[in-house]
Formats: sequence, structure tokens, C-alpha cells
Amino acid sequence: MAIDYQQKIPNNVDLASDKVLQRALEHWQPEFLNWWGDMGPEGSHRFDVYLRTAVSVEPSGWAHFDYVRMPDYRWGIFLNPSSSDRRIGFGDHKGEAVWQEVPGEYRSNLRRIIVTQGDTEPASVEQQRHLGMTCPSLYDLRNLFQVNVEEGRHLWAMVYLLHRYFGRDGREEAEALLDRRSGDPNKPRILGAFNEQTPDWLSFFMFTYFTDRDGKFQLSALAESAFDPLARTTRFMLTEEAHHMFVGESGVARIIQRTCEVMTGNKVDDVQQLRKFGAIDLPTIQRYINFHSSVTLDLFGSDVSSNAATFYTTGLKGRFEEGRIADDHILKDQAYPVYEVADGKLSLREAPALNALNERLRDDFIKDSVAGVGRWNKIIQKYGINFEFAVPHKAFHRQIGPLAGLKVSPDGHVVGEDEWAGREADWLPTKEDRAYVQSLMGRVVEPGKFANWIAPPALGINKQPAAFEYVRFN
Ligand SMILES: [Fe+2]
Ligand SMILES: [Fe+2]
Repeated sequence: MAIDYQQKIPNNVDLASDKVLQRALEHWQPEFLNWWGDMGPEGSHRFDVYLRTAVSVEPSGWAHFDYVRMPDYRWGIFLNPSSSDRRIGFGDHKGEAVWQEVPGEYRSNLRRIIVTQGDTEPASVEQQRHLGMTCPSLYDLRNLFQVNVEEGRHLWAMVYLLHRYFGRDGREEAEALLDRRSGDPNKPRILGAFNEQTPDWLSFFMFTYFTDRDGKFQLSALAESAFDPLARTTRFMLTEEAHHMFVGESGVARIIQRTCEVMTGNKVDDVQQLRKFGAIDLPTIQRYINFHSSVTLDLFGSDVSSNAATFYTTGLKGRFEEGRIADDHILKDQAYPVYEVADGKLSLREAPALNALNERLRDDFIKDSVAGVGRWNKIIQKYGINFEFAVPHKAFHRQIGPLAGLKVSPDGHVVGEDEWAGREADWLPTKEDRAYVQSLMGRVVEPGKFANWIAPPALGINKQPAAFEYVRFN
């Protein structure tokens, strides 16, 4: 079904045929817009931004690019098409037809899964709301806003499911999604990483590289769900998510490139010297990697979790690329390695595979995030500089699960309190690092100009040149 943009709420779910649902969502819509006005990108209300808008859910040509005045963005409800013969791919219901309605016995677990995913979407918009004031270029400003409007749309995606399938409870949860605030101690967002600040653009790029990638893996697991509307919604969200991770990977890559240019052009590798030239030194970038990687790893939850087992067994949440895994998709008698600490050392033990599904998804995520860091290293090599980034060990700086609070170095050794205290400034961003990065944040908004600490992109958006006027101020 094509997306109907004549409707108050653009959608491809034939909203007009369900008046009660339509009215409920049209009641939520102004509350969403109020939230966007209060918590969306600061000062952006009169900007015309060159944005992509979904016009179909077909893989070929689903996006349309044009200038949009930000608050007039058409947030809508888009599900991938259903295939009439889709079967459940895992768990106790494997082989049965997928569900078009929520089975009563799974209602509260499904609602919790949808609310937890939904809560991350507005949270990241809140975390990023001030960044536009210090954008390094119009190109980057546009990318920030693109990510923000799409996170807003992902909230719509989850709110649709809550309204459509969860009755009054669902409507209350949809209200609460607009009520919580990232970092507010009285009404925080549900997950830890979404209450952290995103105070500068290096943090933003790291967030979109690591934390939006957590989104990719969570959405991929939900895309396997036996609850078909959730699977179809998350499949379309994944299409949008790819751009968010591109913004992160290419943003960090451009910072690294600029740093390498300054290092080789001026023959400096001393950190303080390099900072005088206004570039971000590679060790600081490594500490940001360590921070964002570890905070994001916590989002996958506890290593061994009975909830994870229940979600899988009951068909609510699958594994990453479930269909490509060659096993029984039931996992009752299988094992999976998780860490434990014995005699002051990390060692692996076998846990029941069903209970270790969070750990498995975390490992899938790590494999994926290592690949991009390898591409960052290629840039350094190209400049002949002797430095290599690494993703920190899974046990480094963890706050959730049995590894929480353990002192482990980025290369995976358990260390004493003293060693941790002595090395922490080498491993995690210091106050000075953050202040230095903050000191570089100015506002560059002349078309084709880029802040000194970041290289221009190799290509613009939608085949436009890098110097294109991606944002028009009015
Ligand atoms: Fe999202
Ligand atoms: Fe995202």
C-alpha cells in the first residue's frame, strides 16, 4: 500500500478505516508536536532543511529529498508489506503462522519490549537537542536534523503499535513516552545510555556509530518477532537506521582524516602540540571510543537473563539474522559462553544458550562495531602514522550484569583499584579532554565551509555537492 500524505497522519496502514484509532492518534499528535517544540532541535523551528522523507516502503526509491520546514516534517506510520505466509521462525511456536493480534498471555511482555524500544527514540532527540548550535558545517547540521526527525518517526512507529494493539494501557504508555526526559533524575529515560549527555559533535558521531548500532541489533531481533506488526514496523525502521550509523562512521572518519592531515602537514604527534593546531588527537578519540562502546554494551542487558529466554521461547524477540543461523531455533539443550570472574581473572563458562541471548546479541554487535573501527585504522595507515584504534574488551567499564563495577583494562585484564585509578585518564575521556573538544565547537554555517577539526565529506547527500546549501535559515 502506498503512503497517503493527504491524511493528517501519513500512513500506509489504512488508518482512515479505523476511526477510533485515527482519533486517538490525532489526539496524541499535538502532544508529540509540543514535545518536539520543547525538546526537539533547539532554535530549528524556522529552518528549511534538505531532508529525506519516506514516500514508500519499497526498497527501490523509498525516499524523497527536498526542503522541509522542520516542524512541518510529516511524521507518519509506515510498515513493510506483510507476506501472507510468514511463519514463526523460532521458539515454542516455531512453524506456526505469525500473529496479527497480540496473544493475551504475552501482552505485558510485548508491551514492555515496545515501550523500552520506543523510549530510546525521543531520548536521543533530547540528548542531541543543543548540537545544532555548534554544527561544524551545513552538511553536518542537515545530517543531525535528519537523524532527529527519523528518531521522532521511530517514536511514531512504536506509538502506533501501542495505540492499535494495547488499548488503554497502550495509550497511557504513549503519553508516558512524551513525559520522561533524558537525564532528568525525577523522570529519566528507561535505559542508562539514553540518560547520558551528548555534549559535543565527537560524542554525537560516537553515539550514532555505537548507540544507533545497538538500535540496529535490537530492531533486527524484533524484526524476527512472531507478532507480525512489530516485525514489519522494525524492518522499515532498519532502513532508516542505516543512515544514522553512516553519519557516525563517516563523521569519526572525517575527524580522523583531519587529525592525520594536521599531524603529517605540520610534522607533530605530541598531543599538546597537536591541540594547538586545533585537531582532535588520536588518543582522545580512542578514549571516546572506549566510553561510548562500553556504555552501549550495557544496553544489551544482563549476560544471563531469564527474561531473554522467555522472550525467545515465546516468539517475541529472535536473534540477529535468525533465519540464517543453522541450528534448531529452539536452543533448549544448547550452551553459550559468558564471562565470570574467578581468582581475580576473567574466564568463560558455559551458560544455557536461551538465557545467554543478550550476550549473544552483544557479541553480534561487537563483531559489527569492530569492522568500522578497522576502516578508521585504514585512514591512519594511509597517512603512515603509527597508531591503531581498538574496541575495548567486553568487560571494560561495564555497569550492568556480573561484570558491573569490575575493574578491567581495555585490553581485558582485571586490574586493582590502584592501577585503575592510575590509568583511568588513559582509558576514559578526562574532564580536560571533554573541555578541549568542547572548546573546538563553534558554529560553521557558510555553505561549503567546514570546522577546522573535521574534513569535508567525500560525497554530499543525495549526490549533491558538499557545498550544497543543506539548510536555509529564515
Ligand atoms: Fe531510532
Ligand atoms: Fe537511530
